Amino acid sequence: MYHPVPLSLIAVSVLCSCLATPLAMDRRTVTTLSAAQISGYAPFTQFARAAYCNGFQDWSCGAACDANADFEVSLAGGDDSDIQNYFVGFSPSLNSIIVTHEGTDPLQLESDLTDVEVLLGSLDSSLFPGISSSAQVHDGFRDQHAKTASAILTEVKTLMASRNTKNIVAVGHSLGGALAELDSLFFALNLPSGANISAVTYGTPRVGNSAFASLIDQHVPNFKRINNEKDLIPIVPGRFLGYAHPAGEIHIISPGNVVACSGDDDATDSQCTIDTVPNIFEGDILNHLGPYEGISIGTLAC
Ligand SMILES: *[C@@H]1O[C@H](CO)[C@@H](O)[C@H](O)[C@H]1NC(C)=O
Repeated sequence: MYHPVPLSLIAVSVLCSCLATPLAMDRRTVTTLSAAQISGYAPFTQFARAAYCNGFQDWSCGAACDANADFEVSLAGGDDSDIQNYFVGFSPSLNSIIVTHEGTDPLQLESDLTDVEVLLGSLDSSLFPGISSSAQVHDGFRDQHAKTASAILTEVKTLMASRNTKNIVAVGHSLGGALAELDSLFFALNLPSGANISAVTYGTPRVGNSAFASLIDQHVPNFKRINNEKDLIPIVPGRFLGYAHPAGEIHIISPGNVVACSGDDDATDSQCTIDTVPNIFEGDILNHLGPYEGISIGTLAC
């Protein structure tokens, strides 16, 4: 799906991220999460993990599925190559529809870093009604999202009616987090205004430009992107290429020490990813796998 980016471009990205001083040096405030707040994310972490695990299609994928034992899958797909694995279903205990996309295989993490195709492109207004062409996203993420968008939307609408719920949570790790971010705006623009759309993503790269990030901020106020320690995936593609994150970062500083960061990632805060991982050489790719408060995510963590 992606074309390798020359090493020289990566070197430039590192250099530029060092030189690019934010114009507004707003100091962000962070809020420490309570133990209850942290454990409240565990069901979503397990959904993100389950998408990597054989058997998620009929919810027989082992520990990750057992952790949300009452979940009922109603649509599952993907082929491990052209289409990322995904599932849609209903969680009675969360009274929510869950939409989850698989991310990248941990064994391919190294190539993910260098394979990021950094071209920004406009979103398809037939999928994102009313979208401005100024809101641009990574074209590989956009094209992957488009492959399953309509089937997923149809299933979400069916479940909203049959389960009498307005709660939808988009979930995913890594590339799956990027797809969940796109899903969250896609749902906001296509579902009735009463829909309660949330997103919980893990180790998510930057998905689009600042106009796109602003749309997430505007339409998906309950957007959370959880970053683990020194994971470097959340700092790519680089801001100098026009990429920006929406608000909603939650940073796991160390096990049990978790903060919610305010603002987007254009400010400074030593406890958030923007300052913890100033360039990819100061990151640790292994942190991408977790553990996210005790739960590792990936094909090796099933
Ligand atoms: C919206 O959905 C989230 C996630 O399921 C849930 O925690 C929250 O209570 C819901 N809000 C309302 C107003 O129902």
